[in-house]
Amino acid sequence: MNQAEIDRYKALMEWEAGRKGPPEGFPDLPDMPAARYTSSEFYALEQERVFRKSWLFAGHIDEIPERGCYMRWHNAGDPIMIVHGIDGEVRAFYNTCRHRGAPVVTEDRGRSPRLICGYHHWTYKTDGTLVGVPQRQDFPADFDMSCRGLLPVRCEMLGNLIFVNFDEDAASLLDYLGPVADEWEEFQFDKLRLAARHSFDLKCNWKVAMEANMEVYHVPFIHPETVAPLVDAHRNVNTLYPQGHGRMLAPAPKDFDRENVRAIEHPPEWQTIETVGEFGRTATQSYTIFPNWVAPISNYFVPPLIFWPTSLDTCRLELITMAPDWGEGPAPDLWTVPDESQPNGRAMADLIQEDTQFGEAIQQSMESQGFKSVPLSYQESRIYHFHQHLDRVIGLNAIPAELRVEQVIGDEWKYPNDPRVAQMEREAKEPATAAE
Ligand code: FES
Ligand SMILES: [Fe+2]
Repeated sequence: MNQAEIDRYKALMEWEAGRKGPPEGFPDLPDMPAARYTSSEFYALEQERVFRKSWLFAGHIDEIPERGCYMRWHNAGDPIMIVHGIDGEVRAFYNTCRHRGAPVVTEDRGRSPRLICGYHHWTYKTDGTLVGVPQRQDFPADFDMSCRGLLPVRCEMLGNLIFVNFDEDAASLLDYLGPVADEWEEFQFDKLRLAARHSFDLKCNWKVAMEANMEVYHVPFIHPETVAPLVDAHRNVNTLYPQGHGRMLAPAPKDFDRENVRAIEHPPEWQTIETVGEFGRTATQSYTIFPNWVAPISNYFVPPLIFWPTSLDTCRLELITMAPDWGEGPAPDLWTVPDESQPNGRAMADLIQEDTQFGEAIQQSMESQGFKSVPLSYQESRIYHFHQHLDRVIGLNAIPAELRVEQVIGDEWKYPNDPRVAQMEREAKEPATAAE
């Protein structure tokens, strides 16, 4: 972000804190239908059309560091394997043998120069080519091995991060991220190591869990001791990007006192990402990437929370910490703490427990007759923007009218457009009028 943009966002922070209502011309957000969180029909549409067509975070190169390494991945439903090829390329395939459908790899992680299905030993190269069929002579003479390689899934890297997309015709990951990819350059994703990756099952719709991280309205009430001392919710500036992505940019409170807040300790041997600009060092700069990634990124960490639907009313939350080099000590883990009573020996950190504590109860309330619709404020516009895009990806005509949200936030409110700037500048020139 250049200095002019930084200065403009700083001015917008003050303007947001001082405004007396939503920006001029910002649409009143119509209520969202309750059934978006409780209808199996809507859930099926999300599964079939959103999670099959979007770029999804799948892993980090540290999980398959050497050529020949592979990992299983099934967070989006279908069993997938991600393979670091002998040729150095990272690829994703359905983990489904082209013979009779057995899984080709059966361990979560491994390393092998060839991928050999355990059932009848059909053998594939790490680029997916079928190169070995025992008793080949018993198959028809014209049996063409070249068209029976492992079926690929689109797979692209952003630095050391691995993303997949089930849609063969999807635009590239960089096009999908658009201006966000440019803003992320200063975070040097190619230098990040994977420090922690844990997952927790939650008893609520995936959107209920994710939306707890898409507005600052709740911060003073849910996080009075953890987030509130670090984040000035009134000076937060939301930005809506094309493709359903969003960003919050909230400075620390003016009376911010590092001695008295529970900010994570940074041992001196932890490196920071030196190229990160002013906001990554001083503010909370959190990105939501459609459909299921939220990460407050800084000069110390890129720590995404990823929300995976596992059924209509359950989801899995992945808590990931990526960071530059942390020296010889234990790896940093922003989101979990040791807890022997948990299956994986870790529990969610306080801040995450605060955000997830009501998920199950919210889901139950939402499934009752007492829940009719969702009115959102301007401050919650990232949530509405996300839902608008959800419907566009599903296809507006495919969604029953009673489940749809109205498309009221126009492109004039999406990056790089921002009508707030003109209003702010006009008010600055007419202080007497603005004060009335
Ligand atoms: S199912 Fe894989 S070799 Fe037969
Ligand atoms: Fe929160």
